[in-house]
Amino acid sequence: MAQSFQQSFLPVLERISEEIEALAGRGRPADYIPALAAVDPNRFGMAVAELDGTVYGVGEWQQPFSTQSVTKVFTLALALSREGEELWEHVGREPSGNPFNSLVQLEYEHGIPRNPFINAGALVVTDRLHRLTGDASGSLRDFLRAESANPDLDFDRDVAASETAHGDRNAALAHFMASYGNITTPVPTLLREYFRQCAIEASCADLAVATGFLARHGIRADGSRLLTRSQAKQVNAVMMTCGTYDAAGDFAYRVGLPGKSGVGGAIIAVVPGRCTLCVWSPGLDDRGNSVAGVAALDRFTTITGLSVF
Ligand code: DON
Repeated sequence: MAQSFQQSFLPVLERISEEIEALAGRGRPADYIPALAAVDPNRFGMAVAELDGTVYGVGEWQQPFSTQSVTKVFTLALALSREGEELWEHVGREPSGNPFNSLVQLEYEHGIPRNPFINAGALVVTDRLHRLTGDASGSLRDFLRAESANPDLDFDRDVAASETAHGDRNAALAHFMASYGNITTPVPTLLREYFRQCAIEASCADLAVATGFLARHGIRADGSRLLTRSQAKQVNAVMMTCGTYDAAGDFAYRVGLPGKSGVGGAIIAVVPGRCTLCVWSPGLDDRGNSVAGVAALDRFTTITGLSVF
């Protein structure tokens, strides 16, 4: 069964890879830190993982890159698994309609961010996880190592340092929410944890496999349960509605899957009950999503017919 599934998808990935070459170099890599600005926008990799962890891909699917906001999915899952419903008293689950680093809604919404995938919301989730574990970034790294079966997966210290050096806006978000009592970890500690999380390096293969628990309705790679079936549905739903910044409507329209992007150029996506995907190409559109990445996922669901709709 697994074998025939694999054989049926690899030609699809090869076809997508050929078609996507026409988009090579479109978009611009994130340039707010030198480590991301220096990456060649022509690079491309894509991986599909089956429910049993079998993974295969095309292009640079085994090349590590800066995962950035893709990790917000995993910190949300870890925090939700420990805290349950109370988490949602500190962060909402509505699309923001604003850029991911926007401050504008926070004041009139009393320091409660719209969702866990904008920076303000991710800072709240990291705060909750740090309170619960004493080591938010270490918990995330351990989880990703276990789920991807890659013991070398780690954060890049240079990227984390660079994020810190350019972290004024995230510091402003954190201090502002602390003024409402919605952040309790000391802000410098929280920022350190958040920037380490953004600086995790992983490949398409690592991320596609590590996302598997969301396609298995909450079940981890070792068969234990991280999330209830309902919580796994919730995380997938928030990915669908808020996972691609203020372009989530367009992503849902084109791709029709729960997805989460990062400014490093990666996007993860979930076909519940079937498989998980990760695509990476660093050229971003004006809303921060990978141009070739969205196009590749659009082609995948169009060719295969696999979508939640
Ligand atoms: O927090 C930041 O500004 C960067 N590390 C960007 C992370 C990202 O991918 C966009 N986030 N929602």
